[in-house]
Amino acid sequence: MSAATRYDVCAAEEVRVGALTPVPFGRATLVLTRLPCGSLRALAGRCPHQGAALQFGCVTGLMEGECDGAIAESRAGEVLRCPWHGFEFDLASGEPVVAPPAARRMRLRFFDVSEEAGRVIVSK
Ligand code: FES
Repeated sequence: MSAATRYDVCAAEEVRVGALTPVPFGRATLVLTRLPCGSLRALAGRCPHQGAALQFGCVTGLMEGECDGAIAESRAGEVLRCPWHGFEFDLASGEPVVAPPAARRMRLRFFDVSEEAGRVIVSK
């Protein structure tokens, strides 16, 4: 088994909660974001549904409604909504949170990522 290769992809300050930061990664694009708890996420830039560029999606939370019309948001900054069909994925687990049954086997592809001396390091 070979050791993972590490790539310095950007400054840590470029990756913010609630934002999507695209960075080139070979011939592909990685999308970086930061969860409200401070941990980083590095994910493949294409949606697992039909390949939309996730850098054009948005980071949101869960919107939950009650029968009386009350709507509440929870987990702000922990959900990624795809720009094409609106499927939503949990940025903590990669699992879909709002998607039709056919999409429930899809998940975001994460890369190992760390923050070292103010830089974002992705391993592959
Ligand atoms: S391509 Fe992302 S939800 Fe369809």
